Formats: sequence, C-alpha cells, structure tokens
Amino acid sequence: MSIVNHDCIVVLDFGAQYSQLIARRVRETGVYSLILPFNASPQEILSAGRVKGIILSGGPASVTHEGSPRPDKGIFEMGLPVFGICYGLQVMCQMLAGSVECPDHKEYGIANIDIISSSALFEGVSRNSQVWMSHGDRVSALPEGFVQTASTPNCPYTAVEDRKRRFYGVQFHPEVVHSLEGQKMIRNFVLNVCQAAADWNMGSFINEAVESIRAEVGDRNVLCGLSGGVDSSVAALLIHKAIGDQLVCVFVNNGMLRKGEADSVLELFGKHFNIRLQYADAENAFLEALKGKTDPEDKRKTIGKLFVDTFYNEARKCGDISYLAQGTLYPDIVESRSPFGGPTSTIKSHHNVGGLPSDLKWKLLEPLKDLFKDEVRQLGRELGLPDELVNRHPFPGPGLGVRCIGEVTKERLDALREIDAIFIDEIRKAGLYGEIWQALADLLPVKSVGVQGDERTYREVCTLRAVTSADAMTADWYRLPYDVMQRCASRICNEVSAVNRVLYDITSKPPATIEWE
Ligand code: XMP
Repeated sequence: MSIVNHDCIVVLDFGAQYSQLIARRVRETGVYSLILPFNASPQEILSAGRVKGIILSGGPASVTHEGSPRPDKGIFEMGLPVFGICYGLQVMCQMLAGSVECPDHKEYGIANIDIISSSALFEGVSRNSQVWMSHGDRVSALPEGFVQTASTPNCPYTAVEDRKRRFYGVQFHPEVVHSLEGQKMIRNFVLNVCQAAADWNMGSFINEAVESIRAEVGDRNVLCGLSGGVDSSVAALLIHKAIGDQLVCVFVNNGMLRKGEADSVLELFGKHFNIRLQYADAENAFLEALKGKTDPEDKRKTIGKLFVDTFYNEARKCGDISYLAQGTLYPDIVESRSPFGGPTSTIKSHHNVGGLPSDLKWKLLEPLKDLFKDEVRQLGRELGLPDELVNRHPFPGPGLGVRCIGEVTKERLDALREIDAIFIDEIRKAGLYGEIWQALADLLPVKSVGVQGDERTYREVCTLRAVTSADAMTADWYRLPYDVMQRCASRICNEVSAVNRVLYDITSKPPATIEWE
C-alpha cells in the first residue's frame, strides 16, 4: 500500500509472532507503520514512504549463533532513530561492537524494571513499571556511546540508549498488554524521539486502500468469496468502494452455514449494498466430497479446494476474472505461514490461506492482510456495515465443517446448526454476546448413555466453548455463569434429539486452539 503521504515507522521483522502487534501499536499512536523483512536495505526502507524511524522486532533466534538474522549495517547510518526490542536490542548491540551472552537462566514472565536515568523513552512512565520479559540471551557489554537507563535483577541492561544517535533498546516487550506502560514507551519513541506526525487513521486507510486497489486492479474484474462474516464483508465493501461493479461476490452455500445465514447475506449485500452477488448452492457437492473424511487437515483442504472449484464454476458466468479477493487478516497469515519465510512456525494449515491450491489461476487480492480483527471492525463501521454484523463473533471459513468433529453429514450438521443457534441465543439473552470474543459449539463423534422420560438414549455429545481474546492469537475461556450453562444444556437436550450430553470447554489457547479442528 502506498503511504507516501504520511510519516511512517518501519518495523523490521526478525520472525517474532508479535511483529505485527508492534506495527499495530504504532498505528494506535496515529502514525502509519509497516513491516519489512529484517534484511531490507536502506533504499528499500526509504522507498516505503516518509520514514521517520525504524523498530527492530524480537525473534526466536540467538545472535550468538552463526547465521542468525542480521539487519543491513547501513540502517545504523541513515540518521534515523532505531528502537530495538528484545532480539532487536541484542542484534543492534552486537553489530555496534557491544556483546551479548547466553546466561544459564532464561527469563519469561512479568518483571518490574528499575528506571535508573531519565530517558525520552520513559517520559511519564512510573519508575518500577511492570513489563513482560521473554528472553534467553541478554546484552553483557554496551557499544560505545550507549548508557543503561533501566535494569531488572536478572538483566542489568534492560533498557539502553545512545541519545546522540537516537538509538534505543529494551529487553522486554512493550507491545504486549502485560507491559502495562509499554504503549506509552512506543508512543514516546514514535512521537517524541522520531517526531512523526500523528495523521493516520482508519479514514486514511480507506482512502489509501481504495487508491491502491484501483492501481492494482485497473479495469480487470475481481471475484470475492463472501461468507457473511466480518472479514469478507469488509473486504468486499472496501473493494466495491474502489471498483464498483468490477467486483462480483460469490456466496457459496456449502451446507455448513449457521441457521438463517444465507438469507441474511443475500438481503444485506444484494439488496442493501447493491453489490453484484451470485448465490451458489453447493451443499450436495461439499457433503459428497467430505464423505468418509475425518482428518482435520484433510477436511480443511477438501473444503478449501471445493470453494475454489465453486468459484471457478461461478466465474465462468461472470466474464473475465483476474483476481480472487479474500478477507485474510494478519493472524490468519501468521499462523499459516511465516510472512518472510523466516522462523515463525506453522500452527495449522489455516483459514483462507491454507486451503488454496498452489496453481490458483487468479491473483490474490487481500486488502486486510496487515490488520487485526478489531481494526477490521473499526473499518467496517466506517464503511457503513450494520453494528450487528460488525460485532459478530468470528466464524471460520470452513464453517460448521470444522466443528462437526469426525465425519461431516447433513444430519450432524443440522443438529449442530440447532445447537449453535440455541447457544448464541442464550448468550444474547443473558446480555453476554458483546463480552465474548467467540462462542462455538462442536459435535463430537462420541456417544454416551442418557435417560429421557423413561427411555434409555445413546446419543452424541456436544461441547460449548466461549472465549475472550484480543486478537485470536491467544485466548482464555470465558467464565460463563452457571445458570446460562444450565439453560443451554437443558434446551439443547430437549430441542435437539441427536444429543443427550453437553460439555463446556475450559481450555485456553495455548495450549488448545479456539476451533477444535
Ligand atoms: P484457532 O482455532 O486457530 O482460530 O485458534 C483462531 C481464529 O480464527 C478463526 N478461524 C478461521 N477463520 N477461516 C477463517 O476465516 C478458517 O479456516 C479459520 N479457522 C479458524 C477461528 O474461528 C478463531 O476466531
């Protein structure tokens, strides 16, 4: 995306799961930020726009190992402020002739720093501020010109700086919420040290995204898979704003949708937003393809492939298509592949990203791929999406297919659809929908004995799961009140004849993921 009209901060990515979080924290200060590979040259950095400073992210490597990622030396001679975070601090110190050691004890978790000298970074920060540490190595000798500004008992050089060259570094992670005043430090670096102008907001994002979509697409046509979820809806509206009727949306009914979903999508996008919309009823094809399949990856890939096949079929009816648009977000990408082939590890073949074949005949258009969910919601509001849709819980691309654990059949899907509708209904009635990040029901291929009336039953088990989260990268289970649980269990067993037992999932992510498959 072109950002030439704004000051910006470049984050060099050393493979941390949280690099994008740093960029997003910078954006929260009102300054645009983007991520480049760790080895971007000074020219590449400058061509990103009006760059006012550079942040070196953390990363899983050790600078003491040969072959660990190093930035271009030239970045330290650009006259720009540099802020190294964790690995970023260590690599900066080592390249500027300080040294880094690998002590016996690693340090993970909460610590309180001791600020020992005044620093632009710590303006307005309390002296013993709480931070989040996660490191093995630590700096053992400072490069010339650097001074120590904060320490912890385990890490003397917790924060260091070379005021003259405007180089700063911290061993902890200011970007995560456990660093209580971390955002203040990032703001201090961006606004005070770099003197970047805070003139970026979602409105500018829309204008620039629209411009860049127009420039990329020209007079060609784009096909967008619309699922009715927030991500694809926002992507579709943004693209529609840029290219109008060159966008065709395809809504695939794969038989794995929630109750009432198809009707509400057709109504909102076809009638209200006046977007070209094609409805593909592919329920039978999906169920046929999934017959006998129980492996989660196999199911995801089958569903992903059939989606694309369905698009191909629909595309034939829409003239010449050059792009496939998707509402892929940053967390989808980081969990599916490492953005720069770097060290971030693959967790599951995930989301939109994992299911696509390598020989896809269209180019991908993913205008939301740098954003987090709450940023996308904000964008949706600005684009005029109704609150009810914007505030909707996330729903996975493969739909109820990955919540129907084991084999996916029409009967099991119908039961799950009812269970899901009851669960969401009870959560809404209790006024808890907005507090919960996501609520989901899964049907397990496990049968248990029950008794209803005087009759013995032998039916499947379902699980309910509600989680809180900031960005789906981590999640905690939601403490659902007992009376809500009780109402769900009793309604589900009474109204859905396929199940006779209801469980509540109390696992956080990690170690579990939000979806079961
Ligand atoms: P996990 O299960 O990996 O999910 O903790 C994290 C978030 O992503 C959603 N999810 C998906 N979204 N396509 C999507 O668009 C998918 O294939 C997909 N799989 C999981 C999940 O619901 C949660 O919000």
